[in-house]
Amino acid sequence: MGWGMRNRLSKIICPEDGKTVMLAVDHGYFLGPTTGLENLGKTVIPLLPYADTLMLTRGALRYYIPPESDIPIVLRVSGGTSILNKNLLHEGIITSMEEAIRLNAVGVAFSILVGAEFERDTILAFTQVVDEAERYGIPVVAVTAVGREMTKDAKYLSLASRMAAELGARIVKTYYCEEFEKVVETCPVPVVIAGGKKIPEKDALEMTYNAIQAGAVGVDMGRNIFQSESPVAMIKAVRAVVHDNFTADEAYQLFLEEKKKEEGS
Ligand code: 5RP
Repeated sequence: MGWGMRNRLSKIICPEDGKTVMLAVDHGYFLGPTTGLENLGKTVIPLLPYADTLMLTRGALRYYIPPESDIPIVLRVSGGTSILNKNLLHEGIITSMEEAIRLNAVGVAFSILVGAEFERDTILAFTQVVDEAERYGIPVVAVTAVGREMTKDAKYLSLASRMAAELGARIVKTYYCEEFEKVVETCPVPVVIAGGKKIPEKDALEMTYNAIQAGAVGVDMGRNIFQSESPVAMIKAVRAVVHDNFTADEAYQLFLEEKKKEEGS
């Protein structure tokens, strides 16, 4: 692995403990002004000190994040359909590698839609992105998205994650499931979990804890942080689980304390 690739990976996964809190705010590429991100900068800028990387689209980066920021960027480079389209799962390349380099990204993220009607298109576009990204030492994060009709179980997620790694992903983002250790054990590259739909803070912290125990290197979490009643308190609590070995209960206590502090300030 070349110096550039190793350097960029070290900006995503902390070399000190091999863990990461990636903050995902890329939702606008198919959802538009998602709840909590109507003014993306207002929500996200206070969270940056507690995130290891920020995952978003080029437009969100340009319009909402000051270029002086030192947060490492993972750029969303797949998309092409909206939530209104019945073929939501038909994604292609939406941002070139040249643009990723111009924006100083440390990584790019691409969704592959294993098992969906258009899986072949998304997988071929993914491997094209991998070839281009590898040429410049840029790691590709594969997002293993799930079709509405597919179950998020260890069998499906192991299949999708292992495929992503074998096709060239340097990191795999997938969903947490029962027997998650099977997904991690059969995937030769680091695995992070998405948060999924907003659930109570305690449950999201429990899921994070279980994922870390099962061998995930961290989270690439969005809605369960920015749609929390207290996003700063929530990212601090998630961080405590990922980097500081907090249990879910300890982290939830931290969330409540931090939330109270914020309400008092
Ligand atoms: C879609 C995505 C999302 O845009 C996002 O990054 C997911 O984050 P979360 O589920 O935690 O809100 O990757 O596949």
